[in-house]
Amino acid sequence: RAMSRLIVISNRVQPPTSGPGGNQGGLAVALLAALREQGGIWFGWSGETTEEFSGHINFQQGGGVTTATIDLEEQDIDEYYNGYANRTLWPLFHYRIDLTEFERDFDSGYARVNERFAETVQPLIEPDDLVWVHDYHLIPLGRDLRKRGFKNRIGFFLHIPWPPVRLLMSLPSHRKLVESLFAYDVVGFHTEDWLDSFRDYVTKELGGTLGDNGEVTWNGKTIQAIRAPIGIETKEFEEAANGHDARFARERMYMSATGRSLIVGVDRLDYSKGLAERFLGYERFLAQNPERRGLVYMLQIAPPSREKVNTYQEIRANLDSLSGRINGEFADIDWVPIRYVNKGFPRPVLAGIYRAARIGLVTPLRDGMNLVAKEYVAAQDPEDPGVLILSRFAGAAEQLKDAVLINPYSAEEMSDAIVQALTMPREERVRRWECLIDNVRREDVFWWCELFLTALRGDAVKAEAKA
Ligand code: UDP
Ligand code: G6P
Repeated sequence: RAMSRLIVISNRVQPPTSGPGGNQGGLAVALLAALREQGGIWFGWSGETTEEFSGHINFQQGGGVTTATIDLEEQDIDEYYNGYANRTLWPLFHYRIDLTEFERDFDSGYARVNERFAETVQPLIEPDDLVWVHDYHLIPLGRDLRKRGFKNRIGFFLHIPWPPVRLLMSLPSHRKLVESLFAYDVVGFHTEDWLDSFRDYVTKELGGTLGDNGEVTWNGKTIQAIRAPIGIETKEFEEAANGHDARFARERMYMSATGRSLIVGVDRLDYSKGLAERFLGYERFLAQNPERRGLVYMLQIAPPSREKVNTYQEIRANLDSLSGRINGEFADIDWVPIRYVNKGFPRPVLAGIYRAARIGLVTPLRDGMNLVAKEYVAAQDPEDPGVLILSRFAGAAEQLKDAVLINPYSAEEMSDAIVQALTMPREERVRRWECLIDNVRREDVFWWCELFLTALRGDAVKAEAKA
């Protein structure tokens, strides 16, 4: 039986012709790799606006991937992307109810854009195709497709945390949103934690029931809810870390470091990443360890993200002032404690920077997964690896247990972890790294993709056997 085609649907689509790099999130990085493997169509928003929505599809081909994108209206972007997705769902699902905005216009914009996605993508899908919808922008899309009589297998993957029941209940239309997930056949989360919270909601709030193999039943509908932690293209990334661009970046780092140990952070400029807490933890380290000042420096790469959203403008201003204050307080004539860089770099360059860094500092307050943590591990020199300091609240902590795990809210813990990492004997660094790389190699992005697609294909095969 020929393999079904794969239709991937997500808000953002990576153009197949663009190389790796720039300000691309984990989702884009992972899906390009997956589609290259499987073949199929990737459908989503073009990133462009239009006067009036027409449903015109722009096809592009390259590198074994076909993309199909649509333009949306300015108002769509305001209400759906900058509104419901990034002012309501993103903060709420990252436990930031204090930053969450609830507006009726956002709800209707979100519903409208999901409808537009459904109506435009439907003609592209053949009866045998597997459909895989991604992330919080498109939760109701499965239901919108079913309303049109759609019979295909459809899966949904959430790349951000699933919040605890009590938190989710502060969303005015929480039931409707969660109920729409029952239009899918399979629903995936990165961690046991997020999956548990989802199951909790279904049993406690919807009165649903749980069965074997991740089965979740509500209102006569059974779906499969699974944990499938996303990985990176580990092999390719390890190769990139030894490639030309990485070596060049590494040289630049060594030249400018003048023997000092590098502590590196790489994150979209997002309040969920715990950047302010990271700066404060580093400041505590500098304050408590005067003898180590001047022997280390921090490089924080933070490309701006979602710049139309006020909370992102605020975090940016806050970090400008915080980094300025810390640098002003501790810098010397030949040393600056924090190099704070507001632009993105191609991943091969990042690979070289990770490799040059004695410490990878990954301290989100809440993160669905966090691929930077895995990339840092994959880029290390096996003979002399650096130390990963990782927040307990990153999804990645469920797999990367041999990192130095910390509570990012505690400046003390962060400061102690930096000292621990700087003084860690080589044998211990190697021992920890070997455990980490073992996981990053085994549970890579291809493994993840296959895990989800196996579940998504699963019942189709069973149904065939029955017929
Ligand atoms: N990234 C990049 N260039 C940058 C900063 C980040 O290519 O300047 C990539 C990074 O290598 C990683 C992804 O963006 O693959 C970020 O994924 P992660 O899961 O860490 O966070 P997200 O941005 O998805 O929240
Ligand atoms: C996270 C989300 C993705 C999103 C990415 C970049 O990884 O889970 O869905 O694409 O951030 O954010 P942006 O708003 O620029 O698409």
